Amino acid sequence: MSKVAMFYSGGLDTSVCIPMMREEYGYDEVVTITVNVGLPEDEIAQAEEKAKKMGCIHYTIDARDEFAKDYIFQAIKANGDYQGYPLSTSIARPLIAKLAAEIIKKEGAEAVCHGCTGKGNDQFRLEFGLRCNVPKDVKIIAPMREHTWTRSAEIEYAKEKGIPITVSVEKIWSIDENLWGRSIEGGKLEDPFYAPPEEIFKWTKSIDDACPTPTEVVISFEKGCPVAIDGKKLDPRAIVEAAHKIAGDNGVGRIDMMEDRILGLKVRENYECPAARLLIPAHKALEELVLTKEEREFKAIVDAKWSRMAYDGLWFDPFFDDLNAFIDKTNERVTGDVKLRLFKGSLQVIGRKSDEFALYNEDLASFDSKTWDQSQATGIVANHDMQAVMYNRFIKK
Ligand code: ARG
Repeated sequence: MSKVAMFYSGGLDTSVCIPMMREEYGYDEVVTITVNVGLPEDEIAQAEEKAKKMGCIHYTIDARDEFAKDYIFQAIKANGDYQGYPLSTSIARPLIAKLAAEIIKKEGAEAVCHGCTGKGNDQFRLEFGLRCNVPKDVKIIAPMREHTWTRSAEIEYAKEKGIPITVSVEKIWSIDENLWGRSIEGGKLEDPFYAPPEEIFKWTKSIDDACPTPTEVVISFEKGCPVAIDGKKLDPRAIVEAAHKIAGDNGVGRIDMMEDRILGLKVRENYECPAARLLIPAHKALEELVLTKEEREFKAIVDAKWSRMAYDGLWFDPFFDDLNAFIDKTNERVTGDVKLRLFKGSLQVIGRKSDEFALYNEDLASFDSKTWDQSQATGIVANHDMQAVMYNRFIKK
């Protein structure tokens, strides 16, 4: 019996792949895999139901806790951001590939199929994640890249093959949702001048509907990870969900941007990432208090490199581990509290403290301080960039 495994969302593209795998590619059995990294409940149930109806061996893996603890929290520690996008879809793909690889091995599938097209980023992320985690003779098949289907042709084919269809021809937006964020593209949004309509948002209130008064919140961090909100300890998943609510209610977390995809294609993207818009600025504010000047300067470079690699899906590259080692080491001291104020779409850091690790001393910094003998600065100031002073005095013509 020949077996193919596939990433399955229950959507039209991946549903169409099921009969194709049997009829066109000649596999006897199809194993469908849905990895739950925070998908809407109804989508998971729908995927399960459809897969069974089409005679597949189906797996639903609940990866929400692992995603929050090891992926989202690492993105917070790295201040993960690519061109203004807080890396939501991108950081889920390596985990999805890694968990699917376990099923592929367990089921002894000789091939694996994904529904990515040839234009996007996910083909890079999923295939790299697979190649790093499955035996090398497992074949990777990408039918949506090999065939160019129009949506209506797909619907026709689905009807012909008796695939239960739940979408309509005019399904307008292409949405990817996980615990860390929602990404919305397609339809009229493909015109970069078309303003995002209210209906694409689910977690954030519009400025008009946002809380009428400012909200103040304190986020506590331990070793770079958020652990409590207003003194209430929460596990990783719960803290992300609570942060979504606080920021979303205040209209914080909507992003409308132009993005350069891995292939170089410029695309217009809309994101809804309220928790990231609250937790990352809070985390950065605490790093400002506890890290040295050199660490801060260098970490900005490491963070940018980390973000670029996370965007490219290179989670299993040894260089990514090297970057994580630096990120984890510096974050050992990122423990303390950050106070923020949110109001009608804006967010401000209004306080920070770290009893154990602050490199700030009020007495030293204060204008009223007598501890620091100011006269000691005189000689240092006089020799500030001495070589440049020499150049300007004696050499420059
Ligand atoms: N551009 C984003 C990324 O590459 C999100 C793509 C998500 N897909 C979607 N159909 N909305 O991470």
